[in-house]
Amino acid sequence: MSETIHVAAGTEWWRNAVVYQVYPRSFADANGDGTGDVEGIRSRIPYLTQLGVNAIWMNPWYPSPLLDGGYDVADYRSIAPMFGSLDDAKRLIADAHDAGIRVIVDLVPNHTSWDHKWFVEAVAATPGSAARDRYIFRDGKGENGELPPTNWSSVFGGPAWSRCEDGQWYLHLFDISQPDLNWTNPEVRAEFCDIFRFWVDLGADGFRVDVSHGLIKDPDFPDVDLASEILTVGHIENHPHWDRDEVHEINREWRAVLDAKEVELGRELMMVAEAWVKPESVPLYLRPDEYHQSFNFDFLGCPWDITQMRSSINRALVDAASVGSSATWVLSNHDVVRHATRYGLPEGTDYQEWLMHGSAELCDHTLGVKRARAITMMLLALPGSTYIYQGEELGLHEVHDLPHEVLDDPVWRRSEHTRKGRDGCRVPIPWTTTGASFGFGSDGSWLPQPSDWGAQSVEAQDGVAGSVLELYRSALPLRAASWVDSGDLNWLELDPHAIAFERNGYVCITNFGDSDIQLPDGDLLLASDDSASVAMIAANTTVWIKRP
Ligand code: NOJ
Repeated sequence: MSETIHVAAGTEWWRNAVVYQVYPRSFADANGDGTGDVEGIRSRIPYLTQLGVNAIWMNPWYPSPLLDGGYDVADYRSIAPMFGSLDDAKRLIADAHDAGIRVIVDLVPNHTSWDHKWFVEAVAATPGSAARDRYIFRDGKGENGELPPTNWSSVFGGPAWSRCEDGQWYLHLFDISQPDLNWTNPEVRAEFCDIFRFWVDLGADGFRVDVSHGLIKDPDFPDVDLASEILTVGHIENHPHWDRDEVHEINREWRAVLDAKEVELGRELMMVAEAWVKPESVPLYLRPDEYHQSFNFDFLGCPWDITQMRSSINRALVDAASVGSSATWVLSNHDVVRHATRYGLPEGTDYQEWLMHGSAELCDHTLGVKRARAITMMLLALPGSTYIYQGEELGLHEVHDLPHEVLDDPVWRRSEHTRKGRDGCRVPIPWTTTGASFGFGSDGSWLPQPSDWGAQSVEAQDGVAGSVLELYRSALPLRAASWVDSGDLNWLELDPHAIAFERNGYVCITNFGDSDIQLPDGDLLLASDDSASVAMIAANTTVWIKRP
């Protein structure tokens, strides 16, 4: 591992942004219908300002039957009535901008909802028609076409093909309600360029692009040996639908659209890829004419292990710099078990198995939160930008015991009730210590909140020294004032149980061991836990120090 890691130059806002991910359904409910909405988000802009974030990323807010939490989009140029209106979205963007917060919207190009007018047209049209060519329709195998065209499986479980009444099959790498678009069709390509322009004109500053590695399918439609689990993508060379070379052409087309808009409007724009690809492929998505950034899922997948984490960090920094991009740091999002819980579970726990059959006691909540605090501070000190998932600043845990009857994730349905899926990280946020939905809204919430949720609420932590919320509130401005402009990183070999680095006189040390580590000379700026005494760094703790 090299001693000094170079950081690519550049002053664009996204390079060092702290981006707060808002899951609109579960953030704040202004109209009391149990579902979050745009007005609710707008009402919480002061909270986000006080937290110190630079941008918000809105999960999909478009009209949708919500069969995959809104990633089944029926109309890309509108807002779901349950969340509000386009005017509400404009007001939210304007208020966010007034507060110095940029807005990233979620774009879902791999598939539409089956309620999208194009798919409705396609199903009504005949095989071979132009309407069907916008999607991926094929005849089946077998004597009467009764077998799916390939053995591909849906990420959510079950086959990736479903049959129409006239006998043709359509591809859906995700839910049956999410037909895959045909990205070799020029109309599809033109449409999405236009959707980018639409949201930029409305005020958006960036785009998070869903399943960016899945748009192109092998035209020969070969069978695949392994089930096409999204996370196993790196294990198959020349996979028929993940990470194919031709996706880079699409990336370049979009980048050109954004670059042109940037010049036209004089505003810096960005796009960040959701690309679950092997680490070696990530820099290809980050070349100067492709994505500005890509989520770092390799780090998210690391267990609490100093060697794995350090090498993942090193690789992400080197790779990003090699193409002039900046690294991203992500611990949680709406698709994974919350990290406070992951770090509190024994290493090697199968999370879906634990959610289905494991006992709540298996998770050491206190340890999980302690480690979450430490890792957050480590990431905030690293070069690059950090994505925060709503509620992590409260130290929220995965809701482990959601009753089966409330589960809404297609993973639950398509796995035939063998995997609970992702609802446990999507439970509405507790804002107050009491009240029907702990201040989320004036009535209930679309997923039930745990009865002790109030103790974790914003109200319970506001102004309380040592709370997770106050740690974030201290760390973010301090990061802006110290780490953000500190450039290159030097690894320090202080202790075999520590990840330690220095940037421009600022030192960050995380203790992964079981015993205390001597604090080096300098001013202690912040510790992730008050168990860091004046002289020692306790286990599972991060400190920031300014060298004398
Ligand atoms: C990734 C999104 O983050 C996830 O929530 C969604 O289910 C799939 N893509 C399909 O759109």
